[in-house]
Amino acid sequence: MAGADEAHVVRCAYGCQDTTCNITVGDEAVSRAVRSYRPHGSLARVLYDKRKADEWLAAYDKRKWYRVDKSKIREDLLDLWVPLGTGPDADQPDKAAEIFLVRSAERSDSLPLQAWHSLARSALSWFISRTSINGLLGRGSMHVFSSEQFQKLMDASGFTGPWHSLVDLGAGDGATTAHVAHLFEKVYATDISPPMRWALAKRKFTVLDVERWHQEAGPYNVILCLNLLDRCDRPNTLLRLLRTSLAPGGRLVIALVLPFSPYVEVGERNNHKPSEYLPVRGSGLEIQIVSLIDRVFAPVGLRCLVWSKLPYLCEGDLGQSYYFLDDVIFVLEAQPINTRSCEFAINDGVSLRRNF
Ligand SMILES: C[S@@+](CC[C@H](N)C(=O)[O-])C[C@H]1O[C@@H](n2cnc3c(N)ncnc32)[C@H](O)[C@@H]1O
Repeated sequence: MAGADEAHVVRCAYGCQDTTCNITVGDEAVSRAVRSYRPHGSLARVLYDKRKADEWLAAYDKRKWYRVDKSKIREDLLDLWVPLGTGPDADQPDKAAEIFLVRSAERSDSLPLQAWHSLARSALSWFISRTSINGLLGRGSMHVFSSEQFQKLMDASGFTGPWHSLVDLGAGDGATTAHVAHLFEKVYATDISPPMRWALAKRKFTVLDVERWHQEAGPYNVILCLNLLDRCDRPNTLLRLLRTSLAPGGRLVIALVLPFSPYVEVGERNNHKPSEYLPVRGSGLEIQIVSLIDRVFAPVGLRCLVWSKLPYLCEGDLGQSYYFLDDVIFVLEAQPINTRSCEFAINDGVSLRRNF
């Protein structure tokens, strides 16, 4: 029987030399062994969990990233939809997204790098925000869209230039700005986090003050406001400034993670809640898309020209190779404030037209 027992004791899947360790994948003994394993148990558990999470990621249907439930969207808004995936059904990740995922997986698999990040994060979290820690460590990079996807959106919105100035507000480390910077003569950026501002300056973008960006330069041909409205303290004030800071014929590109969930790292209320709330209604992604277009953008004189959906990708860590959220992208233009009209969608799709 000893032989049979030995056959069942598979050596640790992570290559540790401890003969009492019998971690393998896929049976009940595994989770028991992972839970009780000591002294290397914590690391083994982390690696086991990461492997499981990565298996889940590998099996995930990535076509969902580029799709919405069209039955829940009004027809006039469906006309503005621009698919951003690749492949026959335009619902597969493009090359830039694939490159980001591969690089992210490589970095997340580097134990020394992740151990250093984890140590530094716990030490620094007493003093500075998570975003600033990421900026200092050069980690947590994000991916929104590629140059080709951006150009597709611009073309679909009828933007023909001039390609003189771009400002990316709340640009983070400028990774997404870098994808489109070559299209413009002048590239400006802001971020509230000092390490992110250093990262932006290192990329040779002109870094503007977070309060005075609209006075220091501009009006701008294109403004990027990517994943900022749910992270800044005063999103309504920002939206009004965005509208007035667009050059004639300019485009505002807003990306927002949905379902909407505001979380403010640096705000007046000190409880991570924003000082101003966006009137986003409904709980599902599609309902919120309609609500944003009708109730948030239209009332401040921003008309949606095209919109789409893609994954907001974030570099991974010891937890998993990468993270993703549903990101909805809107390309908007400024409307004369007095003549704008707004449609308030009721959740079931019935709408009431209202002129201001
Ligand atoms: C979720 S990240 C988005 C980064 C990048 N735009 C992207 O889409 O990957 C939000 C960023 O906005 C910055 N931020 C928050 N409030 C801000 C404000 N009022 N002005 C400028 N940046 C701000 C944060 O420091 C953070 O880097």
